[in-house]
Amino acid sequence: MSQETWTAVDRYFERTLLGSDAALEAVLERCRKAGLPDINVSPCQGQLLALLVKLSGAKRVLELGTLGGYSAIWLTRALPKDGSLLTVEVKEAYAALARENLALAGVSDRATVRCGDGQAVLQGLIADGVPPFDLIFIDADKPSYPAYLALARKLSRPGTVILSDNVVRKGAIVDQQSEDPRVLGVRQYCEDLKALGWESTVIQTVGLKGYDGFTMSRVP
Ligand code: DHB
Ligand code: MG
Repeated sequence: MSQETWTAVDRYFERTLLGSDAALEAVLERCRKAGLPDINVSPCQGQLLALLVKLSGAKRVLELGTLGGYSAIWLTRALPKDGSLLTVEVKEAYAALARENLALAGVSDRATVRCGDGQAVLQGLIADGVPPFDLIFIDADKPSYPAYLALARKLSRPGTVILSDNVVRKGAIVDQQSEDPRVLGVRQYCEDLKALGWESTVIQTVGLKGYDGFTMSRVP
């Protein structure tokens, strides 16, 4: 199987199951024009995030790694009227664009973009004693995944769903020779999940974004 096939199949399901979405397409175009890396979740993955918000009944969602706000739009749209999303982005320019994009998608009332270092922001939330989040999507710098997990744990309650993107990395997760800090980061994250003894699994994915995957865990 080739990338060409994975892309064609992803586009088939996007057309067939999702249909077109003018706001999301405009947001992707704005991200491209602004020169952001093209590493957003795919449309089908965005729909999966939205379904997971709805299926879990999440009202408070935390995202690490906003980029241009594409996944934040999917997550926020899935929230009930009294739900809220907090998304954290380290780059000022990305955070500013994401705020514009969330406004364009009409979800600004329920979505907040916080610009800052992910770990520092989470430490601040813990210090402030914010209520636990119901769903946390970790999609920021991969070497920090273990630190994000340790902090996310303190912002969770029993039943919180924790998702983390890009843990398969074209199979590099099992390359014992790899010295890539991103591979080492996601591998440590998975080892930490094991040590915590949480119910966790991985969904390996192929599609527009090649071969990758995400973990899903439930905080006991
Ligand atoms: C990269 C980051 C991501 O979150 C992703 O989904 C794909 C690629 C990256 O940093 O290359
Ligand atoms: Mg990602």
